[in-house]
Amino acid sequence: MIITIDGPAAAGKSTAARMLAARLGFRYLDTGAMYRAAALAAMRAGIDWKDPAQLEPLAGRFRPEWQGSRLFLDGEDITDAVRSPDVTEATRFVADSPKLRERMAELQREIGRTCDLVTEGRDQGSLVFPHAECKFFLTADPRERAKRRAADYAAQGKAIAWEDVLQAILERDRADASRPVGALRRPPDAVVISTDGLTVEEVVAEMERIVRERQARLSQSQRD
Ligand code: C5P
Repeated sequence: MIITIDGPAAAGKSTAARMLAARLGFRYLDTGAMYRAAALAAMRAGIDWKDPAQLEPLAGRFRPEWQGSRLFLDGEDITDAVRSPDVTEATRFVADSPKLRERMAELQREIGRTCDLVTEGRDQGSLVFPHAECKFFLTADPRERAKRRAADYAAQGKAIAWEDVLQAILERDRADASRPVGALRRPPDAVVISTDGLTVEEVVAEMERIVRERQARLSQSQRD
């Protein structure tokens, strides 16, 4: 079974996806980390990552490898390196490359063929797995998302003004929605969950309830 979770930045997708996967015994796929890995690879190769033509050759040979929750590229564990602010900044440019997006979809579908999956990103239910058995779209008010992000930063010892975080989130929403390829789109058949005022446990409990219902319906229809 494939479960997709899409939605805007800081809507709580990764925590919810990780927890849902653990509860169901499914594999969790963080597609954002894969895009971040491509940005890191481009930076290390000295490629001008704002130029799609330069990214094309990289896309063809790009093969990050997951080992559990750790991400490797050419044998090196890059799980933490992909979280750096420069990689975050470069990722949105790299993610605009149509060739790279094609390659990512190929790699992600390859993983989806081998196991039950909870996959999370911007385009999983709309483009990569249009026939996924269960699709979610997580949203939250930008102010709520900014509060959560600011709290994450504070927990890491970084004091960033809430208003600045809000501006960055609004900017990212605009960029995500207007991208020429891979724009954030809500799949028409996705269950929309607004996470405003809900704890992550409540969000995951609701998702698990919906998934279990679908699983029961699917196995019933297989028996009929
Ligand atoms: O989810 P995360 O913030 O780690 O994603 C990093 C960036 O990768 C996003 O801002 C977006 O530009 C890109 N991305 C994407 N498609 C996905 C996942 C992430 O374009 N499926």
